[in-house]
Amino acid sequence: MTTIQLSDETTICRLDDDRKAVEPCSIVIFGASGDLTARKLIPALYHLHKDKQLPPSYRVIGFARREKTSESWRAELREALNQFSRTKPVDETVWAEFAANVHYCMGDLTDPTAYAKLEALLTGFNSPLLRKNLLFYLATSPSQFGQVVEHLHNANLLHKHNHLADGWQRIVVEKPFGHDLTSAHLLNNELTRFASEQQVFRIDHYLGKETVQNILMFRFSNSIFERLWNRDMVDHIQITVSEKHSVGGRGGYYEEAGALRDMVQNHMLQVLALVGMEPPVSLEAEAIRNEKVKLLQSIRPLSPADVAKQVVRGQYFAGVLDGKPQTGYRQETKVKPDSNVETYAALKLFVDNWRWSGVPFYLRTGKCLPLGASEVRVQFRPTPRVLFAAACAGKLDPNALTLRLQPNEGISIRFNGKVPGTQVGVRPVRMHFSYDTEFGAYTPEAYERLLLEAVAGDATLFIRRDEVETAWQIVDSIRNGWEGKSLTNREFYAAGTWGPIAAEELLAQSGHVWRDPQPVK
Ligand code: BG6
Repeated sequence: MTTIQLSDETTICRLDDDRKAVEPCSIVIFGASGDLTARKLIPALYHLHKDKQLPPSYRVIGFARREKTSESWRAELREALNQFSRTKPVDETVWAEFAANVHYCMGDLTDPTAYAKLEALLTGFNSPLLRKNLLFYLATSPSQFGQVVEHLHNANLLHKHNHLADGWQRIVVEKPFGHDLTSAHLLNNELTRFASEQQVFRIDHYLGKETVQNILMFRFSNSIFERLWNRDMVDHIQITVSEKHSVGGRGGYYEEAGALRDMVQNHMLQVLALVGMEPPVSLEAEAIRNEKVKLLQSIRPLSPADVAKQVVRGQYFAGVLDGKPQTGYRQETKVKPDSNVETYAALKLFVDNWRWSGVPFYLRTGKCLPLGASEVRVQFRPTPRVLFAAACAGKLDPNALTLRLQPNEGISIRFNGKVPGTQVGVRPVRMHFSYDTEFGAYTPEAYERLLLEAVAGDATLFIRRDEVETAWQIVDSIRNGWEGKSLTNREFYAAGTWGPIAAEELLAQSGHVWRDPQPVK
């Protein structure tokens, strides 16, 4: 760890200087013709190359069934980069350097000879480390994970436990990681037949977001907030991940997933775990993940009767979004006209541990809401009802701290202040910290960070087996409660509004109200 003195008052403490230099390696992307590769993975690798973050020597190999050559694949990726790169225009010199490391291997995932071809391609690389240090990125359907790792093992490309002489091999898997606890458990078993848990890196792209990572920094590198972070001071916590867009072309996927599986099981429970967890004993991946699992395990189980009281689902019907007409979910392509799938979910959860006992955690997410924004709002307890609170007849705003995860990334504190003038007036005011203003507009994409961590072998930002399974347990209990029940009128919401009336009622039971994210001014 090094400490850089910038000025009398500014000190940066770099925590990753102790990290071992990243060794040369090859990154093999299975499902390379898919959307994820062109939209996220290649732009992320291009930027990592541009920022000189990748090892001095590396290769990227796309593995897919479609017939193309390395040249034609590079041309395709170059074209896609115009659209998906976060920096424009694309730097042609950097691209040319990067593209020289990019190769294509045509093959069917089910065909053993395709893996022999991959092996031959790797053998052709000059450095032994490029042949042995292998990051396998499975951007395929989860139903194919099992056979891919088995074929890799049979082709002698994947060694369980990573003996030193065998280099290292890691498997990165994308969501959805199963569709319930049983399937996630089976998937985990399939992956760990030929790789150890330490070699499996399960992605949740929310953990790659700067502001999500900042939750831990904010909590554990400041003394003033952490001591307020408990049941004595916090009244309740709201976590909102609202999305403006509809399910669009993803109707088929959404009919299987719904908001609960698509957003709550992974992104929202991960944010909740970071907000609520105890301080880890160190910054090691296992220490942090232990605390996250403990938090998830402390969530009070939900019986079907609890689900009826504590969980609300919703589905959008036709409305107006940004002044334009938006069709209802049931009219979207590949959606059943009588579908009961939720495009919105709101939950009231309790964390039964010493710190959080009795504090409601409200989570909500939905499509076709008025604003795309993710934030965590920590609402503190009100002041005693004397003095100003008594004089304001219950209208004195309680203090709140908002972590804005996206957009307008930053942190705000809301407190009360005197309205200037001869009369005595109190009203809420805000103090803002904004990432852009403080650090400039540089925000790397989540995948840049995640790919880099996977190459470096740091699993902190990836989901461990027990985390994913505990999260499914929570989601399964909610789905059980919904089993066989159709949506009621109180669960529909017009596109472009903040969700169904039932979600307002959920908070009203405890005298709370949703605080909607505010548009950037
Ligand atoms: C994905 C979900 O995991 O996350 C999408 O499948 C959702 O439905 C997306 O839109 C949200 O991610 P972000 O980074 O845009 O907040």
